[in-house]
Amino acid sequence: MSNRTPLMAGNWKMNLDHLEANHLLQGLAMALSDAGHDYTECEVLVIPPFTDIRSVQTVVEADSLDIKYGAQDVSIHDNGAYTGEISTAMLTKLGCTYVVMGHSERREYHNESDELVGAKARKVLDAGMTPILCCGEALEVRKAGTHVDFVLGQIRAALAGWSAEEVAKIVIAYEPIWAIGTGETATAADAQEVCGAIRQALRSDYGDATADATRILYGGSAKPANIKELMAQADIDGALVGGASLKADSFAQMAGFYA
Ligand code: PGA
Repeated sequence: MSNRTPLMAGNWKMNLDHLEANHLLQGLAMALSDAGHDYTECEVLVIPPFTDIRSVQTVVEADSLDIKYGAQDVSIHDNGAYTGEISTAMLTKLGCTYVVMGHSERREYHNESDELVGAKARKVLDAGMTPILCCGEALEVRKAGTHVDFVLGQIRAALAGWSAEEVAKIVIAYEPIWAIGTGETATAADAQEVCGAIRQALRSDYGDATADATRILYGGSAKPANIKELMAQADIDGALVGGASLKADSFAQMAGFYA
């Protein structure tokens, strides 16, 4: 057993208006409380759309919830003429503690490069929040058998020039694209193969302390039925959950994988 605290992160993507977000959050808090959830055994994080964050903050503060919240993306700029963008300062002001970057949907639909993803992670870390750096291969890459090299290449390109202490503070989420939203989960062994290779690469690039501290999540059709097996893998420290995080009961069940 490592001493990394597991993280169950719910990526709501472009779902739920702010009223629906409050409803889900309250339902989640209740389901976790009914299950006697121990937040020291597993951190629980929700990642709503930008327009929901203020309402999520209000509920978290009013009800003194231990649930954390963050954002799905962020600008690399501080402020100014960047129509449509959201800065790290806006997010920290709202109490966000995590920001996702490099999700395959943003890489694919917004042409985000490893360099841009790395710049976002840097911005988030400098603002005192935790970057969740996503990586993962498409089906063709998996079929060609080059998935490990591909994923390590994404991570190394994004983190070029980072110190070991900085890397130890981030979360890496391995999400094979072919398993996202398809119901097709990677087997626990497939997920462990890549998460283990990521940790091994961190060990050789940055040393033991960083490799042992950095949390690595799996994402891609993670759900109550497969979470126990995924979490039993040596190098999987949690999950980045899409679809199953939109239902309070299933997400609460996933956060209670240890029980
Ligand atoms: P999914 O999405 O759980 O719906 O497959 C995961 C993700 O894209 O983060």
